[in-house]
Amino acid sequence: MFGFNRTTLKFCDLKGKVAIVTGAAKGMGKAHALKLSGAGAKVVVSDIDVAGIGVVVEEIKKARGEAISVKCDTSKKSEIDNLVAETLKKFGKIDILVNNAGIYPFKPFLEMAEADFAKVIDINLKGYFLMAQACAKAMQKNQLDEKGQRGSIINIASVAAIIGFAGLTHYCASKGGVVAMSKAIALELAPLGIRINTIDPGAIDTPGASNSSMTDEQRKAMLAPIPMKRQGTAEEIANAVLFLASGESSYMTGSSVVVDGGWVVG
Ligand SMILES: NC(=O)c1ccc[n+]([C@@H]2O[C@H](COP(=O)([O-])OP(=O)(O)OC[C@H]3O[C@@H](n4cnc5c(N)ncnc54)[C@H](O)[C@@H]3O)[C@@H](O)[C@H]2O)c1
Repeated sequence: MFGFNRTTLKFCDLKGKVAIVTGAAKGMGKAHALKLSGAGAKVVVSDIDVAGIGVVVEEIKKARGEAISVKCDTSKKSEIDNLVAETLKKFGKIDILVNNAGIYPFKPFLEMAEADFAKVIDINLKGYFLMAQACAKAMQKNQLDEKGQRGSIINIASVAAIIGFAGLTHYCASKGGVVAMSKAIALELAPLGIRINTIDPGAIDTPGASNSSMTDEQRKAMLAPIPMKRQGTAEEIANAVLFLASGESSYMTGSSVVVDGGWVVG
């Protein structure tokens, strides 16, 4: 009567899609890889941590998903080219890219060396640019799907693109850059049927966040203004990734989705 079979209708179905997730050995990247696989995507699990991505691939395979691991330092173009080539060799196409690999080493502004700044920009901003460009070139060759789409790129930025953080000058610059860059790319990719959106996570409980060089005082100060009075989980960000990766978000491009327990509206 409604033209679809209610029993087979699935929200955010990614069956037949191929996804690359960077920085996927742990933390949020791992959660994104597991979430996309759970929705039916074939996943390329990538990171500089070779042992870590092997574990994630095993986890996906145990749950009857399909995945491969490819080592890639996203600050190096040669390794990005290899990641894209390996993905195309194994799965024949790329539908989804989650740019997630990022670092956030605390350093006071007056002590921040040129090399400290350059390292964060190379991984958090230049790496996202190179990955998005390499994957968009591959996505261009995809057939249009039923929603007129060829691909979806999700850039993990941060609330640091919106509010300043002491000790994170380089990081705030990189994440603000990711949001601005994604808007510009969205304009050029929309006519090609490729969408690009960012997610701005707030304070999320990940290995990186608990090992960061933040002092207890800095951590307390960070949580105090969050209306929900807790850190978010990696899965709460992965849910937003899944939505943006799927056809359910087919009219969204150039957007920033804030997932932060209400932090930035306060
Ligand atoms: N945790 C938070 O509170 C928070 C908040 C907002 C945004 N973010 C962003 O979310 C993303 C993931 O953060 P997380 O907390 O899960 O981090 P994490 O440190 O727990 O994990 C990051 C992963 O990225 C990998 N990585 C680091 N440098 C890399 C490189 N050059 N190439 C490829 N992989 C590399 C690491 O090996 C690690 O497995 C980052 O972009 C981060 O800036 C985190």
